[in-house]
Amino acid sequence: MSEQVNLVTVVIDEEEHQIELGDQETIMEGAERIGIDPPYSCQSGVCTTCKAKVVSGEVEMENNFGLGEDEIKEGYALTCIGRPKVAGTKIDWDDV
Ligand code: FES
Repeated sequence: MSEQVNLVTVVIDEEEHQIELGDQETIMEGAERIGIDPPYSCQSGVCTTCKAKVVSGEVEMENNFGLGEDEIKEGYALTCIGRPKVAGTKIDWDDV
C-alpha cells in the first residue's frame, strides 16, 4: 500500500497519522477530515500558517504565493494547497 501516492503521513504534536487523500483533497483538508487540528488561516497559499517540513517524498503546491524559493529549497511546503506528488510523502508540522 505504500506505493499509493495519495497516502500521506503527517506528524503533529509528536504523533504520526496516515491519511488517504481524496481526488482533489489537500493535505490540510485530509487532516481536518480525520479530526486532527493543524494550524491554518487563509487556506489559499498566502499566509504560510500551515507550513510544514517535507520529511520525505515531495509535495506539489497549487498557487503558492506565500512561500519563498529559499523556504521551498529548505524543504517546506504549504499544506493548505499541497498534495503529495510521490508515494511515501511525509510532512511534519512540528518541525517549522
Ligand atoms: S493556511 Fe495560509 S498558506 Fe496555508
